[in-house]
Amino acid sequence: MQLNELETINNIENEAWQVLENSILYYKGRPIGTLAAYDPSVEALNYDQCFVRDFVSSALIFLIKGRTEIVKNFLEETLKLQPKERALDAYKPGRGLIPASFKVVSINGEEHLEADFGEHAIARVTPVDSCLWWLILLRAYVIATNDYSLAYQPEFQTGIRLIMEICLANRFDMYPTLLVPDGACMIDRRMGIYGHPLEIQVLFFAALRVARELLICQGNQDIVEAINNRLPLLCGHIRKHYWIDISRLNAIYRFKSEEYGKAAVNLFNIYVDSLPYYELDKWLPKKGGYLAGNVGPSQLDTRFFSLGNLMAIISDLSTESQSEAIMNLIEERWEDLVGDMPMKICFPALENEEYRVVTGCDPKNIPWSYHNAGSWPVLMWMLAAAAVKTKKPQLAEKAFEIAKARIYEDEWPEYYDGKKGRLIGKQARKYQTWTIAGYLLAKELMDHPEFLPLVSFDKLPPETISRACEFEVGSLDPYMSL
Ligand code: GLC
Repeated sequence: MQLNELETINNIENEAWQVLENSILYYKGRPIGTLAAYDPSVEALNYDQCFVRDFVSSALIFLIKGRTEIVKNFLEETLKLQPKERALDAYKPGRGLIPASFKVVSINGEEHLEADFGEHAIARVTPVDSCLWWLILLRAYVIATNDYSLAYQPEFQTGIRLIMEICLANRFDMYPTLLVPDGACMIDRRMGIYGHPLEIQVLFFAALRVARELLICQGNQDIVEAINNRLPLLCGHIRKHYWIDISRLNAIYRFKSEEYGKAAVNLFNIYVDSLPYYELDKWLPKKGGYLAGNVGPSQLDTRFFSLGNLMAIISDLSTESQSEAIMNLIEERWEDLVGDMPMKICFPALENEEYRVVTGCDPKNIPWSYHNAGSWPVLMWMLAAAAVKTKKPQLAEKAFEIAKARIYEDEWPEYYDGKKGRLIGKQARKYQTWTIAGYLLAKELMDHPEFLPLVSFDKLPPETISRACEFEVGSLDPYMSL
């Protein structure tokens, strides 16, 4: 490497660290999180708050650098914000939820934390992912510090239990997946992801695994048993019903419909004409595949969602061969999914009438912008983690080089627009914290794969594997094996 090239890298990293430092939020003199963005040129709205999902990227990089205190403070303070009693008022957050975001307010000279569970958020969206990310982060903290005692404290045990109770509650439907409203995760606007969106299911899977690892069995046998029941069913359901590759597409293409009863093959009564099968036939590489965006009654959302697919690899939800096929797809469809900025939040965009009907004419989500197939640099760390895990580090390096060439000069935008991600997002904040943390974290994971276990999971322990996980799509799918 040339000396001046090294200097440029150092400059970028130094600035990234500087901005990350500046984003730290203090409460009663202690660091407890990071602001979503600090861009004085745009109205702050709620970007001056600490978002739980955003903080995960900052927290992981802090953990890697041994700055564990801020993460501990965050976990303790957000836990205090979790409602512990049943809500008597339907407009109040339910017991067990973790807020989307919080900020420090001063009342009569004393600092308080004010949480937003979605009751202030644009469109009043429900942050289902917060409690799931919170658990994932708690495990990362425990692994980084080897300090299990934090998770074993009674307050934390109660917190984990309450999250599990709300996730595993009695409900109307009989799928092992979680039924949620639209915009319940990173995509926090109407985007046709209500029902059983992949992102939530993958985070749910990881969260169940964390709870299984960290809950002390004594006194929690009922929850542990419920987790043991749910895990293999959820895992089998996603591996089977969300999977799309060319063999599976062939099977779906010839599906019969209106099947009633036990012998049904087309369980969800998917009507083939609802799928863009000619496009998919062109798009799917021979050895590639991915997990669909959503599965429900007569619904198979064939859009590719990056966070769900990458986290499925990281959490070991996808089988080894599925993970390989997902990475193959990313490699083969690089121009579509990475292009000029890693990486697309989803692909392809909703366009024309579909855009109008599905997003409700949202001007922020016009085709190839923001959540509607915009490019989000924060996803780079998940791409790096998945690449390291599947032994394809060269993909992460290639993506990183692409980002490095622009992201610093562009002042760390929240997202990019356009089919290839060449335009800085129309309404993107600059100096977006998770863009910066995602960049630093991707680099750390590439240079030091030994940090991967902070977020990555191994195969499910044998006692939780059941036949339900060992499904076969049959002779149709050569890539499928456990
Ligand atoms: C946007 C994103 C959301 C993120 C928030 C703060 O609303 O969609 O995922 O948490 O900004 O950065």
